[in-house]
Amino acid sequence: MKTRSIEDAQYACAMGHLLVLYTQVDQFIMEACAERIASAPDQAAKMGLAKQVGDECRHVTIQKNWMQEFGVEQTPVIDQQAIEYLHAHFRALDWADFLTDLYLVVEALGSQAVEQVVPLADPGTRESLRVPLQDELDHVAFGLSELHKALDGMDAAQRQSRLDGIPARIQAVFAMLQGLDVPVLDWFEQIGTSSRQLCEVLDQRRQELITGLAA
Ligand SMILES: [Fe+2]
Ligand SMILES: [Fe+2]
Repeated sequence: MKTRSIEDAQYACAMGHLLVLYTQVDQFIMEACAERIASAPDQAAKMGLAKQVGDECRHVTIQKNWMQEFGVEQTPVIDQQAIEYLHAHFRALDWADFLTDLYLVVEALGSQAVEQVVPLADPGTRESLRVPLQDELDHVAFGLSELHKALDGMDAAQRQSRLDGIPARIQAVFAMLQGLDVPVLDWFEQIGTSSRQLCEVLDQRRQELITGLAA
């Protein structure tokens, strides 16, 4: 595996798009979590969300500073209408479904995809991802523990039906993200990731998450 340099135009362009995407997703998560604080089920959940809002804000700042230095064209890759559509989706969810869609898919699988980029990235990009990826581990742990709590608070039949519905939810969120028509797999390929390998890694992680929740 070879680390690419920012002098490589195709690499720089694809990595630039991925950085813009990551920053937009972090900004989106920051806003979605901020909106949920008031209605979160208990104090621990409110505190966890509030901490995450601060973390995502820091990630957006780190990424924006790095993109500036890297000379990335910062035009959004997800348009405003799509962002509004995603907000509407998350707003309509109850707490357990919100946790499933945001933490299993966007946070856990999203950061797993970003992790795949790290070994291939130029040193500056790698450094810009260090703090954010470290924090994402906390966010995933928070989301999973809240989801466990939410499931444990349900009666057995309800809990089972939520658990049974999780693979389909994950699938539906993926389909929704694919519908945004952002050529993210092409960008991954252009920076040197194999999309087949990426899909395998994500599939394995998805399996682990589902098994962990049912335990
Ligand atoms: Fe983040
Ligand atoms: Fe996060």
